Amino acid sequence: MIRYLNATDGVRPDQIVGFFEGWPSPPTPETHLTIMRGSYRVVLAFDEDSDAVVGFITAVSDGALAAYIPLLEVLPAYRRRGIGRELVTRMQRELGDLYMVDLVCDEALEPFYASLGMKPAHAMTVRRFDRQSGTTPESD
Ligand SMILES: CC(C)(COP(=O)(O)OP(=O)(O)OC[C@H]1O[C@@H](n2cnc3c(N)ncnc32)[C@H](O)[C@@H]1OP(=O)(O)O)[C@@H](O)C(=O)NCCC(=O)NCCS
Repeated sequence: MIRYLNATDGVRPDQIVGFFEGWPSPPTPETHLTIMRGSYRVVLAFDEDSDAVVGFITAVSDGALAAYIPLLEVLPAYRRRGIGRELVTRMQRELGDLYMVDLVCDEALEPFYASLGMKPAHAMTVRRFDRQSGTTPESD
């Protein structure tokens, strides 16, 4: 059974394995936990049967006006059964009535987010694929 959690309390690194599919330098499970703990809000999908996190979504925010959703992922074996939709819906609830909630996605996912009430917009980004995910220049 899938349970949804709003905090990472009690979650161990060995319970968040297999995420960041296709990333050249994926964060370690330990860094993944740091990312989730440092986020403004997090929602986890936890499979009671496998005792593991199988999906997650994070948001960063100033807490007053704006929020950004940098990460949403469901493990491949758990996709297309509504977990992603549930994570976004729960995060939208968590973010309440903030003026702006933004995210960047591939075009293929526009219908997914549109069905959840979001609108397409243009975005500008920087992605440093040569850097180890989860590090800063100071921590090198
Ligand atoms: C995107 C993602 C989180 C969706 O999770 P999910 O649990 O499979 O989503 P749901 O089961 O709630 O899907 C609901 C609907 O969204 C659409 N959808 C889901 N994944 C899709 C995809 N990869 N491409 C196009 N449409 C998709 C489908 O219409 C789906 O309905 P259907 O199963 O009846 O066809 C998952 O595919 C994933 O982790 N992908 C890799 C990471 C990623 O791309 N994250 C998004 C960053 S912006």
